[in-house]
Amino acid sequence: MNVLLLGASGRIGHRIANELLERDHDVTGISRSGEIDKIDDADFKAVAGDATNPDEIAELAAGHDAVASALGPSGDEGAEIIPKMAEALIEGLRQTDVDRFVWTGGAGGLNVGPDTQLVTTDEFPDELVPLAEAHIDAWEVIRDVDDLQWSYIAPPAQIEPGERTGEYRTAEGQLVANEDGESRISMEDFAVAFVDELENNDAIHTQLAVGY
Ligand SMILES: NC(=O)c1ccc[n+]([C@@H]2O[C@H](COP(=O)([O-])OP(=O)(O)OC[C@H]3O[C@@H](n4cnc5c(N)ncnc54)[C@H](OP(=O)(O)O)[C@@H]3O)[C@@H](O)[C@H]2O)c1
Repeated sequence: MNVLLLGASGRIGHRIANELLERDHDVTGISRSGEIDKIDDADFKAVAGDATNPDEIAELAAGHDAVASALGPSGDEGAEIIPKMAEALIEGLRQTDVDRFVWTGGAGGLNVGPDTQLVTTDEFPDELVPLAEAHIDAWEVIRDVDDLQWSYIAPPAQIEPGERTGEYRTAEGQLVANEDGESRISMEDFAVAFVDELENNDAIHTQLAVGY
């Protein structure tokens, strides 16, 4: 596959790039500067682009089989950029023949019980509420789209750099936690789950939560 990866310079994004490259896909990685030193592979090309601009996204996406996103606010950007980037991606892709995208979302909007989202629980850190709400806003933008083949992959509560085990579990719209109540995954295994979805298209029009 020839994949356009938005957010390729990010913590999760560069791991998705590495997972794609390991599986022999070609990757065009986007960041604002266009400089992505972390990845050195003949099948990787770094290109500058602004993911809030639908016309730029359309131009960048042309000729690719799918778009992957690990976008998030970086530098001095506020969380509200997340739904704006979701809107720009959708509007941009509608100008192209590319109709497949896989989006990295947030855990806060996942259910932890009947009609209870993680973000509304007492354990959810106050300082992360604006970010979680921005991810929920982006989810609400994406979930109504029926003319593009999207998948929304939501991390568990904790996601950190770690080991690639190749193991993970999934649940639709529901936080994934182990028997001790821990909801976690390594960024490397999140990338495995993300690329599995890009390759297999098992969760089209689905909010797919992943975790151990
Ligand atoms: N438990 C959870 O819910 C959870 C946990 C962790 C992460 N996440 C979410 O997962 C996503 C990725 O996280 P991360 O830690 O990998 O983020 P990160 O390291 O901050 O990476 C963000 C990426 O977005 C890119 N970006 C930002 N603004 C852009 C713009 N205007 N145009 C083009 N690219 C832009 C950045 O590129 P440059 O800055 O290089 O241009 C960077 O590659 C985020 O949305 C984050 O909130 C959720």
